[in-house]
Amino acid sequence: MSYQAGRATLIGAVVALVASMSAFGAGNDESPASGGGEVNIYSHRHYSTDDELYRLFEEETGISVNILQAKADELMARLEREGDASPADILFTVDAGRLVRAKDLGLLQPIESPQLARNVPPHLRDSDGYWYGLTRRARVIVYHKDRVDAADLSTYEALTDPEWRGRVLIRSSSNIYNQSLLASMIANDGQAAARTWAAGIVDNMARTPTGGDTDQIKAVAAGEGDVAIVNTYYVGRLQASESAENRSVAEAVGVFFPNQDGRGAHVNVSGAGVTAHAPNRANAIRLLEFLSGTEAQYLYATANHEYPVHADVAADPALAGWGEFVSDDLGLQILGELNSDATKIFDEVGWR
Ligand SMILES: [Fe+2]
Repeated sequence: MSYQAGRATLIGAVVALVASMSAFGAGNDESPASGGGEVNIYSHRHYSTDDELYRLFEEETGISVNILQAKADELMARLEREGDASPADILFTVDAGRLVRAKDLGLLQPIESPQLARNVPPHLRDSDGYWYGLTRRARVIVYHKDRVDAADLSTYEALTDPEWRGRVLIRSSSNIYNQSLLASMIANDGQAAARTWAAGIVDNMARTPTGGDTDQIKAVAAGEGDVAIVNTYYVGRLQASESAENRSVAEAVGVFFPNQDGRGAHVNVSGAGVTAHAPNRANAIRLLEFLSGTEAQYLYATANHEYPVHADVAADPALAGWGEFVSDDLGLQILGELNSDATKIFDEVGWR
């Protein structure tokens, strides 16, 4: 869906997508925290389990949920363009780096909620309440089970060793996931070490970066390389795919959580914030509280093969097969703050 599309087209798409929910713009009256009204979401995600959760929220609160789904950057451009006339109350997007960008662009507002503060660990949310992580994903090493012994894997850093020359698959540096991974290295190890790592990965690449994370996993299975750095849920999607071909790709690879003897695997979030001009602010806060709660967290994370952020909620058993892991508990806000340093390093070392 293009953000240039007319409002009528977008409303049509939303209505077609979620027929039971009322269309945007039906009325944006300020609503009390309980007793009806609506909440309008701009979201990158749409899963059928999300609809179940929204229906449950509607039943519990009487607040109607309206969703406009598009790519994250399109939603942010749309929010910028609409300004204070925007009907949006909540922006859902992925990666703390992008959530920080939304905050810096003035698209979000700070909110205070004891419930959100309790449910979302401090390192997975903005310290001033502009955004909250709602699901967790790890950026891991995927390896070909026949060509790589998991005992030979250890850290992200070790993939720059000469033994991995021509064997490493990873997507372009224009991607926010890689920018945030490198930002985490700058935060943990400093600029020089991060630059050495990025240059070392470029030296060991199996090919010029192309495609998304799923393409890297498929390329490992197909033998174009032996290891790839990808987000966990892409492996989960292949495992759960209806396509036998996709499932055999997932079968061929193993998931390795790096840096387990040190800072832990790099973890990022999908998350949300209340928009700067939210017409239904109280309802928006109520929905975020609901999604962060024990009732919703399991389903909300599982919908995309992710991990809950709520410490008391167990992960999907389908992910448990990969084992427990230590995660880097770096405050994710810093990933946004170091984003431009990371992209500068990528340019310097020629990571396309
Ligand atoms: Fe993704």
